[in-house]
Amino acid sequence: MSHTLADLDAVRTRILAEIDAADTLQGLDDIRVAGLGKKGEVSLMMRGLGKMSPDEKKVMGPALNGLKSDLNDAIETRKATLENAALDAALASETMDMSLPVGKPTGTLHPVSQVMEEMAVIFSDMGFSVAEGPDIEDDFHNFTALNFPPGHPARDMHDTFFLENGEKVLRTHTSPVQIRTMINQKPPIRIIAPGRTYRSDSDQTHTPMFHQVEGLVIDKGIHMGHLKGVLMDFVSAFFETDVDVQFRPHHFPFTEPSAEMDVRYERDGAAIKIGQGESWMEILGCGMVHPNVLRACGLDPDEYQGFAFGMGVDRLAMLKYGMPDLRDMFASDPRWLAHYGFNPLVQANLATGLS
Ligand code: DAH
Repeated sequence: MSHTLADLDAVRTRILAEIDAADTLQGLDDIRVAGLGKKGEVSLMMRGLGKMSPDEKKVMGPALNGLKSDLNDAIETRKATLENAALDAALASETMDMSLPVGKPTGTLHPVSQVMEEMAVIFSDMGFSVAEGPDIEDDFHNFTALNFPPGHPARDMHDTFFLENGEKVLRTHTSPVQIRTMINQKPPIRIIAPGRTYRSDSDQTHTPMFHQVEGLVIDKGIHMGHLKGVLMDFVSAFFETDVDVQFRPHHFPFTEPSAEMDVRYERDGAAIKIGQGESWMEILGCGMVHPNVLRACGLDPDEYQGFAFGMGVDRLAMLKYGMPDLRDMFASDPRWLAHYGFNPLVQANLATGLS
């Protein structure tokens, strides 16, 4: 069967009217399939081209292509119109009242999350950013690069969990994030690294999984005075009161000199008051980054210096918010979480109080 140009015009007029009248996306698609689908009216006409004489083909080929593209254009235009109408209808019917108060959330923020958030707020105010590293570490990042050579006795004190024929470990501290940061980032560096840490140790004051926040500053001309200033400012901001501190010499393989920082406190019945009193409590380890650690990360100790610190988050959370037993922290008891947890919609903020 052969067609004339007049036939094509009739088909165009008819299908364009159908497209115009389509009032659903599905209806429009049915029209498309009936006209331009594999077995559609126009597609079948195009198939007829093969049987035409060369002269006929010269006329009908472009005409059919023009018809096809006119129909496609009309379908696209109609589709956009229908889609816009559907969106308008949805917007009109699905209104949201932004002035309605939010109901009390049923979940709470775990005190460990809250305290890590508070620490991030305090340190970011001092120009630190947050870095992260993997829980599963290798010997190089967890020990060797931190100046614990193979066989070093300090390795034994870490009660390490080993994985996969001893090549990988669950990180025993957040200090490996120092190494990853110094290898991947050029000084000046100012980071804190909060995260989970693991040691094969379990009693009233130890859980096999616990949390630390590491700190690292690397730049030119960094000295012990910077370390003391940052940590003194940090504890007073964290406990939200003036806190008296002392630094005691200590030893860590990755810092030299090394120190532990104690805060002054007193007991008040069962409660512990941080800030004043006659007793001292150790809360963190710190020191100047050891030249061997800088070298292991490709930094020249004659050019760059830095300090580092590390603290246990769980114990600081207990001290600040009066939780009596470490093991309750990870027992996932909803009553404990309801009591000690924090409102997840309230963000820690230095100006309005941290919690
Ligand atoms: N990594 C140490 C630990 O887990 C804590 C620590 C001490 C971290 C001194 C430091 C530091 O960055 O300078 O016991």
